[in-house]
Amino acid sequence: MIGGGTRVVGIIGDPVEHSLSPRMHNAAFEHLKLDYVYVPFRVSGDMLRKAVEGVRALNLRGVNVTIPHKVSVMPLLDWVDENALDIGAVNTIVVERGELKGYNTDGLGCLEALKEEKVEVNGGKVVVLGAGGAARAIAYSLAPLASELVLLNRTDSKAIALAEELRRKGWSVRGGGLRREVLEGELKDAVLLVNATSVGMYPDVDDSPVPREVLKSSLTVFDAVYNPIETKLLRDARSVGAKTIDGVGMLVNQGAVAFKLWTGVNPPKDIMRRAVIDGLTGRGESDRGSCGARCGNNC
Ligand code: ATR
Repeated sequence: MIGGGTRVVGIIGDPVEHSLSPRMHNAAFEHLKLDYVYVPFRVSGDMLRKAVEGVRALNLRGVNVTIPHKVSVMPLLDWVDENALDIGAVNTIVVERGELKGYNTDGLGCLEALKEEKVEVNGGKVVVLGAGGAARAIAYSLAPLASELVLLNRTDSKAIALAEELRRKGWSVRGGGLRREVLEGELKDAVLLVNATSVGMYPDVDDSPVPREVLKSSLTVFDAVYNPIETKLLRDARSVGAKTIDGVGMLVNQGAVAFKLWTGVNPPKDIMRRAVIDGLTGRGESDRGSCGARCGNNC
């Protein structure tokens, strides 16, 4: 029941109709009987500045930020945390005493998702596919834990540039092209493979960034794509006996970190996961559009 004391949070982006975050957060608020509500706000680029000032003026508790505003919102904030500065994108704003603070919860969400599945990267070699926003968040969170991190991207130059950026932080990182022969060599001694490209995302559900023949049972394969929940890559990985982790875990955990920042309370992640899966599989009231959402877009 929305009342005079209800705190408002939400998501600003364009589009936002497909977002699973409202159902995920509202399910958690309801479960904990917290007096909060999560609302989608469709905000076009030319309205972003006004919308962000509105977040402050209306004394919202905070908002998630999604495509296309994750980068352009940064200069509009009073403070941005170091991890979000590294990643170069903000996906969560918290309003503290009228000040707008920016965070990026994707990296922590990735780490938590792996932890939940009892995946240890300590001392192992990690291969991350992609060099876009999702790959940046994932690479910044995993590079400090890996003995070596290898970034492979369709456009080689982007992976090579990101690898160099990460090496300047003191981590062991190499970049290269996302090609079969490169994958074959790099996966031989890797413990974890992460797909942070959009390959395999709805509607291209029969695509995979990795040929099945180069996958091995000794790998853990984590796909940041969550729509479909089991991508072709994960299906192939499962068929060769590899451990698989779907993208729902990262979506839920990035949301859980934002939830804690706003409310100070640990959310019921099982309830959030159920709400996301119901949304993705069309059970209950469906709010999923046809664009195909993924965790890198944090919505
Ligand atoms: P996000 O913020 O969700 O990561 P992004 O920044 O647009 O989205 O990044 C998309 C990633 O998927 C990139 O690494 C992109 O590769 P390029 O840098 O070469 O564009 C990758 N990607 C998208 N479509 C792809 C495809 N068909 N094959 C291989 N990689 C693809």
